Amino acid sequence: MLFFIDTANLDHIREAAELGILDGVTTNPSLMAKEGISGEKNILKHYRTICEIVGPGRDVSAEVIATDFKGMVAEGKQLADIHENIVVKVPMIKDGVKALAYFTEAGIKTNCTLVFSAGQAILAAKAGATYVSPFIGRIDDIGWDGMKLIREINQIYTAQAYETAILAASIRQPLHIVQSAKAGADVVTCPLSAILGLFNHPLTDIGLEKFLADYKKVNG
Ligand code: G3P
Repeated sequence: MLFFIDTANLDHIREAAELGILDGVTTNPSLMAKEGISGEKNILKHYRTICEIVGPGRDVSAEVIATDFKGMVAEGKQLADIHENIVVKVPMIKDGVKALAYFTEAGIKTNCTLVFSAGQAILAAKAGATYVSPFIGRIDDIGWDGMKLIREINQIYTAQAYETAILAASIRQPLHIVQSAKAGADVVTCPLSAILGLFNHPLTDIGLEKFLADYKKVNG
């Protein structure tokens, strides 16, 4: 399973990249706004900086703002031109699916976002999306089972031999990462806090402390 970081924060992206386990980045308009990135020029520049930080071969999802087919195509092409790492992120709406099919035909990588049902995931796969992004945390937030959707999409994509990769999104905590791996997600995108949370185990801390103390006893 690939690890993407879900942020537009450059420090967080650098920290995750330095760990040596980062495979890509996802952003969205809310995450860009959180970093105070505004204006077309600055937005495009920020995406380029992210691509340069993560290095070659690591996908960086950049989301379109337009909601009509023509607008999405124009914006998507502009985003794709920024850097070879760019994946055009498109919402799961009718014109979005049309745009996904267009980008697939044009050889531009895509990420279909705001996916909350298996039916939507089928549409994304039919349109040839590179990634489909089911939003786990937001489903959990309304008292449903987000992980059930990952299992369902995995079952359908396996049965139908769809090539779209399942990108578990809206991940809130380390357990979501483990559960996504078990449920068959191809990629997980999560905040830095969830990635760092995977490191924590008290027995690791106690064990390391004892190893170092025992070494010190005989080595001074
Ligand atoms: O990037 C899309 C998704 O990961 C958003 O997550 O936490 O805003 O539901 P969240």
